Amino acid sequence: MLSLYCDKALNTDEAQHSLDKLIARRESGELGFMDVDLCKENLNKIKKTAADIQKRAKDFVVLGIGGSSLGGRTMISALTNKFSNKGTKVTFLDNVDPDYFSELLETLDLSKTIFNVISKSGSTAETMAQFLVIYRLLSDKLGKYEAIKQIIITTDPEKGALRPLEKSMGFMTFSVPQNIGGRFSVLTDVGLLPAAVAGIDIDALIQGASDVVKLGLTKNTEENIVLQYSLIKYEHNKKGRTCSVMMPYSTKLTDFSAWYVQLWAESLGKKGLGQTPILATGATDQHSQLQLFMEGPKDKFITFIGIEKNNKAVELPKFDVEIEAFSYLSGHNMQELIRAEMLSTEKALNENNVPSVRIEIPKLDAYHIGALFMFFELSVAITGEFMNINAFDQPGVELSKKYTYKMMGRKGF
Ligand code: PA5
Repeated sequence: MLSLYCDKALNTDEAQHSLDKLIARRESGELGFMDVDLCKENLNKIKKTAADIQKRAKDFVVLGIGGSSLGGRTMISALTNKFSNKGTKVTFLDNVDPDYFSELLETLDLSKTIFNVISKSGSTAETMAQFLVIYRLLSDKLGKYEAIKQIIITTDPEKGALRPLEKSMGFMTFSVPQNIGGRFSVLTDVGLLPAAVAGIDIDALIQGASDVVKLGLTKNTEENIVLQYSLIKYEHNKKGRTCSVMMPYSTKLTDFSAWYVQLWAESLGKKGLGQTPILATGATDQHSQLQLFMEGPKDKFITFIGIEKNNKAVELPKFDVEIEAFSYLSGHNMQELIRAEMLSTEKALNENNVPSVRIEIPKLDAYHIGALFMFFELSVAITGEFMNINAFDQPGVELSKKYTYKMMGRKGF
């Protein structure tokens, strides 16, 4: 399970009250993301489809953006070997950058590629534009019947423009439950199908998340580390720490930081409030942003994520001659080095009055990635309650969408 290293949170009464509000919203059926155990019903369909895809496809390409992409992408980078050519390769196309899009297409054998169009609303311009191109390419090359068989749609179970295509054209579909918003949907069909195609243990993902739900809804503030973390961060936010740095000491968790950035920004950036999330990776960013964290404006709160034991061991061998500048490294291993860097950076920042907390996972595996997702989903929901902000909508993104619709000639805009 996860461990939290931090100072004690102060206002536990306020925390209890916010937790009660959250539990009431869950019980009313408004917040489905905590009901991960319900996802278990879907797991068999996901596993069966994934096994079939693994047999027939060389590539699996996800077309989706924001919450329809970042969670799946995080799991693939954290839990699979990016450099391996074995098995079906899972790739995410979120933007409508014509250069990037075309470059990927040039490398694909379309007859051996399955596309997963993920859009809860069924109307996101970026995803729909990609869908239009892919469907045309596939049908020109393979015919309509085959094109339909190579596209899987994940969308709202009832509403939206994509759902009717299941019946009218025969696309295979998966669902995003109505009471789970995009950025909270990683542990639904949205993230689980790409994860299963990549060979990730989706039962373990769900188990990790489910255990954190139990922990995060515990009323005992001493035991409830989700509540403690959220409260400490919120207390610092009120004291002017308006930037929240997510800094896992793992390259494989850089996409986790990107997922967190969306979750924190889109959920809490409202009514003139919020904390600006910052993506960082340790130790890489010690040679980039750390100078700013250390001596720039005192507006940052850092969350470190550490891995207690890495999956692979890399020993640092002796060199032929003794060289003072780096011989001290010999006899250690990379894990010791990256941990030393994390603990030293934490100490240095704290001595320089930059507050932080450290979350540790025993190892990088599906169980703990599921746990981390749920930890931060619950934390953002609790923080929304502290701030009296609805963490589950995103009214601020509508206006620019409307202008895009108008510029692209959509009727009624
Ligand atoms: O969190 C959210 O709600 C958003 O980031 C959405 O996931 C994103 O806008 C994509 O929406 P959709 O799945 O409807 O295409």
